Amino acid sequence: MLKKTIMMKNIIFFIPFLMIISCKQKKEVASQLVEDPHSFSKPSMAVVEHLNLDIKVNFEDQQISGKAVWTINNKAKSNEIIFDDSKLNISKITLGAEEKETTFNYGEEKEYIGRALKVAITPETKLITIYYTTNKDASALQWLNPHQTAGKMRPYLFTQSESIAARSWIPCQDSPGIRFTYNATVTVPNDLLALMSAENPEVKNTTGVYHFKQIHPIPSYLLALAVGDIAFKAVDERTGVYAEPSVLAKAVYEFADMGKMVHAAEKLYGPYRWGRYDLLVLPPSFPFGGMENPNLTFITPTVIAGDRSLVSIISHELAHSWSGNLVTNATWNDFWLNEGFTNYFERRIDEEIFGKQEAEMQEEFAKKALEDAVKEMGDTSKDIYLKTEYAGRNPDDGTNDIAYEKGYFFLRTIEAAVGRPNFDAFLRGYFDSHAFQSVSTEQFLTYLNENLIKGNADLEKKIRVNDWVYGPGIPSNIAYAKGLWAKGGKFSKIDSLASAWNKGKLTDTSILTKEIGTSNEKKFFINMLPQEMTVKQMTDLDRQFNFTGSNNTDIQLAWYTLAIRNQYMVADKRIEDYLIENGRMWHIIPLYKEMMKIPGGLKRAKEIYKKARPNYHPMTYQAIDKLLD
Ligand code: BES
Ligand code: ZN
Repeated sequence: MLKKTIMMKNIIFFIPFLMIISCKQKKEVASQLVEDPHSFSKPSMAVVEHLNLDIKVNFEDQQISGKAVWTINNKAKSNEIIFDDSKLNISKITLGAEEKETTFNYGEEKEYIGRALKVAITPETKLITIYYTTNKDASALQWLNPHQTAGKMRPYLFTQSESIAARSWIPCQDSPGIRFTYNATVTVPNDLLALMSAENPEVKNTTGVYHFKQIHPIPSYLLALAVGDIAFKAVDERTGVYAEPSVLAKAVYEFADMGKMVHAAEKLYGPYRWGRYDLLVLPPSFPFGGMENPNLTFITPTVIAGDRSLVSIISHELAHSWSGNLVTNATWNDFWLNEGFTNYFERRIDEEIFGKQEAEMQEEFAKKALEDAVKEMGDTSKDIYLKTEYAGRNPDDGTNDIAYEKGYFFLRTIEAAVGRPNFDAFLRGYFDSHAFQSVSTEQFLTYLNENLIKGNADLEKKIRVNDWVYGPGIPSNIAYAKGLWAKGGKFSKIDSLASAWNKGKLTDTSILTKEIGTSNEKKFFINMLPQEMTVKQMTDLDRQFNFTGSNNTDIQLAWYTLAIRNQYMVADKRIEDYLIENGRMWHIIPLYKEMMKIPGGLKRAKEIYKKARPNYHPMTYQAIDKLLD
């Protein structure tokens, strides 16, 4: 076994007098004393509280320009406040309502995190106005030309701020441990609609000027903006869908269950506290499946399969309205608190809406993904721990199945140990007591000990908190559902069918499509197939299932992986189209990687990539440039 390489580097300094001040203050102070290695700001000196943003979106120059007016709390009566900056062009900074010009300077540029913007203030300063323009290659922005949209007539802009890209389009204290409310005025070409992670307009107006208000304190990575030819349709009184006009009807059909999902989520862990919950369906270059921007989840159009088979992604992004947006990881080293909790919550919502079997299937895929991730990263990797150390690196590199699935199984293991009703009551209490705060791993563990484990030695032994959080890989006490694998269970049936078919023992192959009906069953079946298959075998299955023609990107990813490996050329054209039309990073990079493993594959990968690259988001093409280099 390897030794523990990750220690509690981000030490929390609990000052003794904290004990005697009020409970509320205690939490605020505590959450801000966790040091964030990915932000230059010093919130214990001077911290932001409210943003008033006034910007203009200029498509000709591909620039956002305007001013960010910050209301601050100069706690330490400091003569300086520090913001994070990535390539912004700042022309002027003023103090107070009277806008008295002040001086500013920059710290040394650091890889990944940019530089500190140090602004001279007085001990009394409350308002700071920063006049700025974004850089042409601001990492949070993707400017699309009309051709890259569904409508092909108008340009489009969207932001992606998580993890640390907000600083490339707004000067801010860019740490998930710092929260603020915001107002914004955004001016756009008058034939386009602007939307933000806030209360949103439903229709375009003729002036092109839009006003936004986010009344709940959010961290900077949840700042978001989209501008385009966008229309809205309500799903129910609280939920609805924004999309380009030609996509809207399909999207509304696909996501018809979103209202039900919000109800299911509330039943589990308490009220949805943000007002409306809407979706924005983006153009296909959107680099993620979904992004939980408050009030307005951003979502890839590639999950619109036509049969609602990929909508659990909505459960996921919705769940972030609690785990992530309401209670936030204090630093990116605590990322599992965002994504592990969200995966757990997601599967609980799915269980309510789609039933136990569907949720158990997802758990099975999760377990395989986790095992694969640990195998790929290797026993000696310093990243196979829940508490991570990404100082000096890009925190985006921590978005892997350790955070997502090891995080999930840690919670799942606690659930199994204490029983679901106890665990649910605990989680509900955790969200309520930490609402609109940021929490470090250590703070969560303290809360867990005080409110659930309570020194019960038996429980401690069952759960093994330290092994999960500060130990490598997958602890042996991992809990998961085994019913699907039991005799007569769905997975053992599919597994025996796959094996019988592979041995050529299945005379009537129509039994396959009779037993294997849902998308998850198909995905599982593909997973159970041998790595090496003949073209004839691939053809036979395709005749039965038409996997090559599937519109479900999960199935496409699984099947195309097999097709590439086994040089099943029938799928070549579909694979190429898929890679050109889909910009979802985690759904395309594995296919490029697979191509590189076969003879002549690198050449083919490069040929396809040449056509696909112009459509990809900078984040996506930077990753693939490196891969194919
Ligand atoms: N917040 C993440 C996306 C993200 C993570 C963006 C880190 C930037 C940095 C989002 O909630 C997410 O997890 N998306 C997944 C959804 C899936 C797990 C259902 C995705 O995009 O695939
Ligand atoms: Zn997520």
